[in-house]
Amino acid sequence: MWSLIVLLVLSFVAYLFTDELIPKLKELFIKAGLFGVDLCKPTKNKIPEAVGVVSGCIFLVTCFLFIPIVFGNGLMDTAHFPHNEFAELLAALLSICCMLLLGFADDVLDLRWRYKLLLPTIASLPLLVVYYVNFNSTTFIVPWPLRPWLGLSINIGFLYYVYMGMLAVFCTNAINILAGINGLEVGQSVVISLSIVIFNAIELSGDQYKAHLFSLHIMIPYIATTFALLKHNWYPSRVFVGDTFCYVSGMTFAVVGILSHFSKTVLLFFIPQIINFLYSVPQLFHLVPCPRHRLPKYSAETDLLQPSKTVIVKRDMNILTKVIVEVASLLRLVDVREDNDSIVMNNMTLINLFLVKFGPMSEVRLTKSLLLFQIFCSCIAFTVRYPMASYFYNINN
Ligand code: UD1
Ligand code: MG
Repeated sequence: MWSLIVLLVLSFVAYLFTDELIPKLKELFIKAGLFGVDLCKPTKNKIPEAVGVVSGCIFLVTCFLFIPIVFGNGLMDTAHFPHNEFAELLAALLSICCMLLLGFADDVLDLRWRYKLLLPTIASLPLLVVYYVNFNSTTFIVPWPLRPWLGLSINIGFLYYVYMGMLAVFCTNAINILAGINGLEVGQSVVISLSIVIFNAIELSGDQYKAHLFSLHIMIPYIATTFALLKHNWYPSRVFVGDTFCYVSGMTFAVVGILSHFSKTVLLFFIPQIINFLYSVPQLFHLVPCPRHRLPKYSAETDLLQPSKTVIVKRDMNILTKVIVEVASLLRLVDVREDNDSIVMNNMTLINLFLVKFGPMSEVRLTKSLLLFQIFCSCIAFTVRYPMASYFYNINN
């Protein structure tokens, strides 16, 4: 436990350092051409972009500094050095580091969508190799109502590796597409990471405490540096975090989920991102036109945000698009206006859906509402994970 205390102190220093460094580096980013315009503001000031690289680097450095502290004892006694645990930590940091590099490349080069899917798959390879060598457990425990048909557990073999690779792709991109208003990318990551930490803390008293301690070793420095970033990214944003931050965060959550064996619980903390992804599918697969930016539209007269729109030309509509528009408007999931030759409807993101349901609101209020929803979903996740899971998996019997 003393290593946790050292980690808390180190992370606090990392927080202070990140908080100091970000304003100092702002000009440097703008000079390098790394800036964006806040689309939800009347002014067109240059705001540094990809600043997630600063918090990401300090997060990684903190983890590196921590290595000799956790493994220091092992170094004295090389015969009993915990090679497996060491390899796990190194692979985890390598995957996150890869994602930092690839995310930064994306911010600088503005990569196309197909590469955004490819990058996390490649970055997760070190992780999967270590998983193969150390655990290679590819079985799922079956909930008891299904056991008469499926047995106690099913081994899905190679598919389990496909699942883990897809988890990394999902976590990284899901955060990136629930974005566009000040503080939302970082805010949601803070809520998810705090949920993971609470879960780890509860599980520290269980028999898997080593795995959860491992997760804490990564999550604590992550939270510290991310909090400092949030301070500067909160409304009105002085910096943008870029895809770098979204990728590093997603990969960090995937890494701890996979190596500490609670990937399904991590997915439970991603409920708003899953809803946003499913809702976005028609636009992501271009069944409905997808503009470069889907973030809400700012109205200078009212200083409020409104849902942003996409236009579907009727004669370009195929049958699938028609079905999607029909079903979505029947379920009141979209706001549709129709004229002779086109259909105008809101861009299909959870952010716009909130504006459709609750009416135009200010940017801060929208961010706060979405973050409250994220917290609410984490509460649901804990309810599913504990009372319901112990029922379905007979944990106490
Ligand atoms: C994703 C979304 C896109 C959304 C964008 C916003 C999909 C498929 N893509 O694209 O719809 O518009 O994120 O981040 O859903 N910005 C703001 N205020 C903020 C944050 C960002 O105005 O609080 C704007 C700035 O102009 C900034 C730009 O968004 O420069 C960054 O967008 P980027 O991260 O490059 O977009 P994507 O991740 O490709
Ligand atoms: Mg982005």
